[in-house]
Amino acid sequence: MASSGVPEYVDLNRANWDERVPAHAASPDYALERFDDPAHLSEVVRFDLPRLGDVTGLTGVHLQCHIGTDTVSLARLGAHMTGLDFSEPALSVARELAARAGADAAFVQAELYDAPDALKRESFDLVYTGVGALCWLPSVDRWAGVVIALLRPGGRLFIREGHPVLWATADQLPDGLLLLDHPYFEQPDGTRFVADGTYVTTDVAFAHNTTIEWNHGLGEIVTALLDHGLDLTMLVEHDSVPWDALPGHMEDIGGGEFRLIDRPERLPHSYTLSAVKRG
Ligand SMILES: C[S@@+](CC[C@H](N)C(=O)[O-])C[C@H]1O[C@@H](n2cnc3c(N)ncnc32)[C@H](O)[C@@H]1O
Repeated sequence: MASSGVPEYVDLNRANWDERVPAHAASPDYALERFDDPAHLSEVVRFDLPRLGDVTGLTGVHLQCHIGTDTVSLARLGAHMTGLDFSEPALSVARELAARAGADAAFVQAELYDAPDALKRESFDLVYTGVGALCWLPSVDRWAGVVIALLRPGGRLFIREGHPVLWATADQLPDGLLLLDHPYFEQPDGTRFVADGTYVTTDVAFAHNTTIEWNHGLGEIVTALLDHGLDLTMLVEHDSVPWDALPGHMEDIGGGEFRLIDRPERLPHSYTLSAVKRG
C-alpha cells in the first residue's frame, strides 16, 4: 500500500499508463485519424465482428477503455457506450476522439474495482473488455464481481484478451524453443516489471517504467465467471494476438494481428470469451 492509501500497483501502473498516452495517441499503430472515415472500426473490434453479434441499441460499458478506439467502434456499431479507465489523460484523448467521430460514447474515470460505484449497477446489456486489460488486475475473482455488478440479468460479457500461456511466455530461445518463465496462475503479489518502452512505434523516452502485473489462468477466469453467476456461451482460442507480444519472433499478418513466426501452432496467442449473466 502506498502512503496515500492507494495500492502501490495502482500508483505505479497509472503513472506508467498516463505517461504513455500521448505516444499512443500520436502513433501510427492507433492511427486515430483513420476515425475521420465514418466507416472506420478499430482492428480489434473488426476482428471479433463475426463473434460479437448485433450490438445495435445495447447499453454497453468498455472497461479499461484506454484512448477509446474500441469504445468508439462499438458506438459506431450502434451501441450506447461508456468507457471506463483510471487514466485521465487516456480519457481526455478518448473524449476528443468520440467528439471528432460523432460517436455516442461517454467516459468515466475510475479504478476498475470501483466501477460499480462509479457507474450504474445492473444497467448494462454489454460489458466489453480485453486486449491487455486483465493483466493489470490482482484478482480475477474480484474482476468477475465487478462484471456481474454492472450487467443486467441476461446481459453479456465479451472479452478478447491475450492468452495466459502467452503472458507466461518470456521469450523464444535461439533454438526456437519457447521459454515459459512467468507465472501462469494468479499470484498474490503479481510480477514487477521494468520496461522503458511500450507496444506502439515511438521515439519517446519514458520515465515511469515500473509496473506490477498479474497473470490469470484460463481456468481461473472461467471459474470466477461461473462462481459469480455468468454462464459461458463462447470460448475461442486464436493463433494470433493484436500486438507484437514477442518482439523479434512475431510477424505482422495484417488486420492488426501478430503471430509467432516459428511453428505458431505451439502457442495459444489470444482468446475470445462470451458469458451471459444468469437470471
Ligand atoms: C492495454 S490498455 C487496454 C487496451 C485497449 N483495449 C486498447 O488497446 O486501446 C490497458 C488500459 O487499462 C487501464 N488500466 C490499467 N489498470 C487499471 C485499473 N486498475 N483500473 C482502471 N483502468 C486500468 C490503463 O489505463 C489502460 O488504458
